[in-house]
Amino acid sequence: MTAKPSVLVARAIFPEVIAHLEQHFEVTHNQADEAWSREQLIARLQGKQGVFTTGGERIDAELLAACPELRICANMAVGFNNFDLKAMTAAGVLGTNAPDVLTETTADFGFALLMATARRVTESEHFLRAGRWGKWSYDLFAGQDVHGSTLGILGMGRIGQGIARRGAHGFGMKVIYHNRSRLTPELESACKARYVGKEELLREADHLVLVLPYTPQSHHAIGAAEIALMKPTATLVNIARGGIVDDAALAQALRERRIAAAGLDVFEGEPKVHPELLTVPNVVLTPHIASATVPTRRAMAQLAADNLVGFLVNGKPLTPLNPE
Ligand code: DGY
Repeated sequence: MTAKPSVLVARAIFPEVIAHLEQHFEVTHNQADEAWSREQLIARLQGKQGVFTTGGERIDAELLAACPELRICANMAVGFNNFDLKAMTAAGVLGTNAPDVLTETTADFGFALLMATARRVTESEHFLRAGRWGKWSYDLFAGQDVHGSTLGILGMGRIGQGIARRGAHGFGMKVIYHNRSRLTPELESACKARYVGKEELLREADHLVLVLPYTPQSHHAIGAAEIALMKPTATLVNIARGGIVDDAALAQALRERRIAAAGLDVFEGEPKVHPELLTVPNVVLTPHIASATVPTRRAMAQLAADNLVGFLVNGKPLTPLNPE
């Protein structure tokens, strides 16, 4: 009998997914709810053909050189900015991600964050919990309308389209978007979305939602200069990746009320959060949970596991990112 391939699961995940992997592999998994250091990860990867990653583990040329038996890295995330795909391809290592299964859940959350931000939900809750609600006031937590407003979307992949559909069909919003490439006329009409340049997007959006991948080109795509183009009543929502927004510039703009509010699920250098963002009231902060419903997180984990099985056992991964 040939030995089963060995895989490493870098973070704690659903026990049933571990059990599924154990049917096919020798599995080493991280049972503690703590990320391993890079040195620990490299040490545990010795002799492993596959690794199940969750998005925080940097897979680059240095790690690949130290782990010569590695053949596949399966990310339990649609984003894969933790992978240096060029280095992986050069080393003959396949990367896979977990697209589609999280699209609608993540779009739901983008909308939840937009609503909470525009209507000042968390700010008013903190006020109430602090026992400060003493009287009616005509402008008590008066926010911005969502229905009928202009929704701007930067990055129009599957999740962006899900947000556009919610805005156009559910809230009667006028949807404009900017993306590296334009959608087909059919997709534009399904989303009721109009393609515009980035500057027009920034100037016209009442609510701007960021859903683009993080790459060297999108680093600080929203900084002080871009924020300066936005309406003073605008809200900004980031469910994409930290680093796309210059958090220091955003915190300053929020403090100076150069835009009305922001909703952030992702941060530069997370889980650390820029200290200024923690002190401004007009921002809703959540800990990178846009895809976090139980069924969706289970489906993401299952897809990452199926990629390991598909590739190492059956020779066919489900959602490959590069030629291995
Ligand atoms: C993703 O899948 O990229 C989400 O950000 C969850 O990590």
